[in-house]
Amino acid sequence: MGNTREHRVAVIGGDGIGPEVLAEALKVVAAAGVDLRTREFDLGADRYVRDGFVLSDEVLEELRGVDAIMLGAVGPPIGSTDVPPGTLERGLLLRLRSELDLYVNLRPFDGVPGSIGAAASFQVVRENTEGVYAGEGGVLRRGTPHEVATQGSVNTRFGVERCVRFAFELAEASGRRHVTLVHKTNVLTFAGGLWQRVFEEVAREHPGVDTAYQHVDAACIYLVEQPERYGVVVTDNLFGDILTDLAGAVCGGIGLAASANLNPARTGPSLFEPVHGAAHDIAGKGVANPLAAIRSAAMMLEHLGEASAAARVTKAVLGLQTEIAGTTEPWSTAAVGDAVAGRL
Ligand code: IPM
Ligand code: MN
Repeated sequence: MGNTREHRVAVIGGDGIGPEVLAEALKVVAAAGVDLRTREFDLGADRYVRDGFVLSDEVLEELRGVDAIMLGAVGPPIGSTDVPPGTLERGLLLRLRSELDLYVNLRPFDGVPGSIGAAASFQVVRENTEGVYAGEGGVLRRGTPHEVATQGSVNTRFGVERCVRFAFELAEASGRRHVTLVHKTNVLTFAGGLWQRVFEEVAREHPGVDTAYQHVDAACIYLVEQPERYGVVVTDNLFGDILTDLAGAVCGGIGLAASANLNPARTGPSLFEPVHGAAHDIAGKGVANPLAAIRSAAMMLEHLGEASAAARVTKAVLGLQTEIAGTTEPWSTAAVGDAVAGRL
């Protein structure tokens, strides 16, 4: 049952539905018998609009000191001009991913009955600190007819290799011994070449794991037409961002898509967040689906060494998402949290 060690967890509810879905995730963790010593951090669009604060070195150091971070969602309402684009993305989310070296973004997908992906069960390992997200590039002659904008994709041997290794180790551990590399090696010959060579090298060290390669455009077709072919997918930051939204839609909706921003080397805390955003249009109505946040919390429990609680919560989430797919009446946010807790 319960653990012996109390885990220190930073809670960033954020904006819109973020705090509502995190409340249900915390409810479920408690029901699973795991004690968390939580500390709330007021960060996101609301905070930025109030006093201009995004993230400071001091707050970053405090976050470095916890065992894990749970994040709901950050972002202003669509159409709002209060927060310049990139302020929270670059200033908060991506800063946390790079400063805390959260180099794997792990996103599991299990299709619900009635979805295109009903028979699918796979995990995407998205490289989470490099590629076009690294911030390389700039603008020259801004605002003139001769403006130049570049945004390079940064791929290091070190960064690619540790991500690919993680994917193969995950395939070994999960028993679904199949890894697909997704890239665009026919056009991105420099970056793709590095990914392909590293992938082939690491694959040779894992003879028991089957491999495949797909260009990202073809992967979009297979993901819709035959998503059950995937076990573990490994890909770069931007392709992983796009593919996982598609995977969410295919497997029953983005409201179910969980993610773990992992520092597998454990040099600091990892961060757990649903893939969806703040969804201000439904905030405060008690109708947001908390299953993605709850499953992300299960991934946190796994990372914190609470394997049995993690397995129980994941099983309860998968069971309930199947049950919900078979019903037509709407479920409230709290009812979903209660139902997961009731299945533990
Ligand atoms: C995600 C989000 C982020 C990303 C944004 C908010 C910066 O879309 O976690 O998938 O692009 O990684
Ligand atoms: Mn995304």
